[in-house]
Amino acid sequence: MSRDSQAALAVPVIAVDGPSGSGKGTLARALADQLGWHLLDSGALYRIVGAMCVRRGVDFSQAGQQPKQERAVAALAAGLDIRFTGAAVWVDERDLTDEIRTEDAGANASKVAHLPAVRDAVLDLQRSFRRPPGLVADGRDMGTVVFTDAALKIFLDASAEERAQRRYKQLKNKGLSVSLRGLLAQIQDRDARDRGRAVAPLKPADDAIVVDSTSMSIEAVLELVLTEARHRGLC
Ligand code: DC
Repeated sequence: MSRDSQAALAVPVIAVDGPSGSGKGTLARALADQLGWHLLDSGALYRIVGAMCVRRGVDFSQAGQQPKQERAVAALAAGLDIRFTGAAVWVDERDLTDEIRTEDAGANASKVAHLPAVRDAVLDLQRSFRRPPGLVADGRDMGTVVFTDAALKIFLDASAEERAQRRYKQLKNKGLSVSLRGLLAQIQDRDARDRGRAVAPLKPADDAIVVDSTSMSIEAVLELVLTEARHRGLC
């Protein structure tokens, strides 16, 4: 093992996994802010890959069945120059911050995230975010695949109905007209794909603390996780 990778392993990681809408993005950002640690939004990486496929006309509609399509998506993923500055996302010097946050971008992300070659292609990139003083890693497989040695693993869940309600309120507040029933169907669809895939399915690590946030405020969840982090000497 190189000295660089040994040094990286000494950097503590808090893994925050869970389905979309569970509040894990908000929790991960708040944790990173409180602790002064780096933040990895791994979902954004899959969203970027999907969006760049659309932009470059790389067809992934049959990638699950056609190895040639899967290889093309993985090659695209491996060649991207991705930069996060605060909440903004830059890809090949282009600002994709808003483009990757649409419902379509989420659905495309879920499709490319299904492909083992794509997951492989973004593995090293994800691990490169592990820098002192620590990393909060937000995703689906942070605790089970990417950072199996994380010092603290949280799996944040909430009922599909509650997650659809939260998303509905978010979109309403942005002035968008959406159907609650449509959102619930999308969430259930995405959950089934993320939980059912063969590679890195969405599930809690054996050593994860499972938190159901259905009837908890984000402040209460944050306090619970910070208390656990203190117990483990992370802060
Ligand atoms: O967290 P998010 O909604 O931005 O993630 C977008 C999609 O990417 C989601 O459907 C699941 C997938 N994803 C994944 O498979 N593994 C991760 N570590 C993060 C996200």
